[in-house]
Amino acid sequence: MSVRMSPPLPLIFLLMIHRAYSEKEDVNYTHSHICALKNSSVIMSCTFTYPTGRQIMKVFWTKTKVKNAYNEFPNLSEDPEYSQRLQYLGDKQKNCTIRLSHVTQKDEHMYYFRFTTDEDNVKWLGAPGVSLTVTDLQVEAPERVTEGDSVRLTCKSSCALTDRATYIWYRNSQPLTERRDRNNQLLLQSVRREDAGRYSCALQEHTYISPAVQLNVTYPPKSVSVSISPSGEIVEGDSVTLSCSSDSNPPAEISWFKGGTFVGSGRIYSISNISSNHSEEYKCKSRNKHGEKSSDAVTLNIMYPPKTISVFINGSGEIVEGDSVTLICSSDSNPPAEISWFKENQSSSVGSGQSFSALQSGRFYCEAHNQHGSQRSDAVTVTVKGRAAHLLFLK
Ligand SMILES: *[C@@H]1O[C@H](CO)[C@@H](O)[C@H](O)[C@H]1NC(C)=O
Ligand SMILES: *[C@@H]1O[C@H](CO)[C@@H](O)[C@H](O)[C@H]1NC(C)=O
Ligand SMILES: *[C@@H]1O[C@H](CO)[C@@H](O)[C@H](O)[C@H]1NC(C)=O
Ligand SMILES: *[C@@H]1O[C@H](CO)[C@@H](O)[C@H](O)[C@H]1NC(C)=O
Ligand SMILES: *[C@@H]1O[C@H](CO)[C@@H](O)[C@H](O)[C@H]1NC(C)=O
Ligand SMILES: *[C@@H]1O[C@H](CO)[C@@H](O)[C@H](O)[C@H]1NC(C)=O
Ligand SMILES: *[C@@H]1O[C@H](CO)[C@@H](O)[C@H](O)[C@H]1NC(C)=O
Ligand SMILES: *[C@@H]1O[C@H](CO)[C@@H](O)[C@H](O)[C@H]1NC(C)=O
Ligand SMILES: *[C@@H]1O[C@H](CO)[C@@H](O)[C@H](O)[C@H]1NC(C)=O
Repeated sequence: MSVRMSPPLPLIFLLMIHRAYSEKEDVNYTHSHICALKNSSVIMSCTFTYPTGRQIMKVFWTKTKVKNAYNEFPNLSEDPEYSQRLQYLGDKQKNCTIRLSHVTQKDEHMYYFRFTTDEDNVKWLGAPGVSLTVTDLQVEAPERVTEGDSVRLTCKSSCALTDRATYIWYRNSQPLTERRDRNNQLLLQSVRREDAGRYSCALQEHTYISPAVQLNVTYPPKSVSVSISPSGEIVEGDSVTLSCSSDSNPPAEISWFKGGTFVGSGRIYSISNISSNHSEEYKCKSRNKHGEKSSDAVTLNIMYPPKTISVFINGSGEIVEGDSVTLICSSDSNPPAEISWFKENQSSSVGSGQSFSALQSGRFYCEAHNQHGSQRSDAVTVTVKGRAAHLLFLK
């Protein structure tokens, strides 16, 4: 058994209203909402019908339902804000499409097509009209990403764009050809340092470009090295500056090590009045929250004039005539010094080189010199006893 129920009365009434409304529905808009990109051209496509036998007198678009002083809806094409940008693409029969170019936020409005026929009292205002929303684009990205991570950048609009154009991306104003992700997203997989930069997005074949957003790629220190200033020869007494350079983001903290011992921090390590005991290996260590790295060691080669010079007699200073005694000059200098031998109260040297064979009695000294200075030793006494005397002495 089935019960057939007739629809309740109010529903029938609604259907009737709808039908009546449909008959008057004389203007069709392809899109009743248009979301357009700033500065783009918007096509509002539209068709209309009118009772047969009537003739179309006027067709135009308006953006208000309020009549002006002449009891008319203002003609948008005569509005100075629009006249240069509005183009009627349709005809006077059924197509009422227009193009509005260089849209701005000020164009966000309802727009209606209107037409009048030769039947004076029939003036059609094409409800419901087209609502226009104008959006810009904004890049949404994390402020910073760590090297190796992946990151997704989104090109956001305030409304869903009616024109489904392809998104394009720029880094530092250069178009990115690779890795364009689906939709409005750019996926950077395993981010590299080179990916840092200012990102903006746009739509293909549109002039508008979003403001750029900085993507900061952080990474541990790399290429850590020490440079010495002044470059070239360092002489005792000089002031020397060691600089540690490293590439890292965020900037690293620098520590200095001399032969493995911590001696200071900061990018610059200065030594004033350098002395030879600074001749050692220096290293800097660069560290941020992502890691640390040490430089290669640099050795300071400090030049200094001869110092702590002395003469040493190999054997006894007392020899027998005919024999010789070897004198050895020792000194400390950098670079190694040249040694000259002198006999006291004689102006010209008696020999050169580190050792000297004395054959005669006298007081001998050596003098060491390099390009940074010279130093003279104390004199040592050599006594040569005559063989006879010696024999005599031996007797
Ligand atoms: C408007 O569109 C509807 C559905 O597509 C169609 O039935 C109707 O005839 C159209 N009206 C006009 C005036 O084009
Ligand atoms: C609306 O203005 C345009 C531009 O001045 C003009 O060409 C057109 O005829 C006008 N339409 C009506 C119905 O006044
Ligand atoms: C209306 O005119 C425009 C521009 O000439 C055209 O692109 C569009 O296809 C036309 N629409 C219809 C429904 O004929
Ligand atoms: C708007 O578009 C025009 C070309 O259609 C272009 O010359 C102009 O630079 C654009 N303006 C802006 C602000 O993008
Ligand atoms: C990147 O972010 C870090 C902080 O996380 C900051 O110290 C650094 O200056 C930023 N670098 C750039 C290029 O903006
Ligand atoms: C430099 O150091 C030496 C000893 O190492 C000292 O004799 C000299 O006075 C110092 N000079 C200055 C300018 O401090
Ligand atoms: C280096 O030598 C100077 C004197 O020549 C001395 O005052 C200083 O303490 C020494 N420094 C080191 C690290 O040995
Ligand atoms: C000192 O003399 C001895 C023997 O004459 C020799 O073997 C030695 O090498 C000499 N020492 C130096 C430092 O010349
Ligand atoms: C050598 O000179 C010193 C002073 O320069 C002097 O005292 C000494 O008597 C002189 N010796 C000889 C042997 O002339």
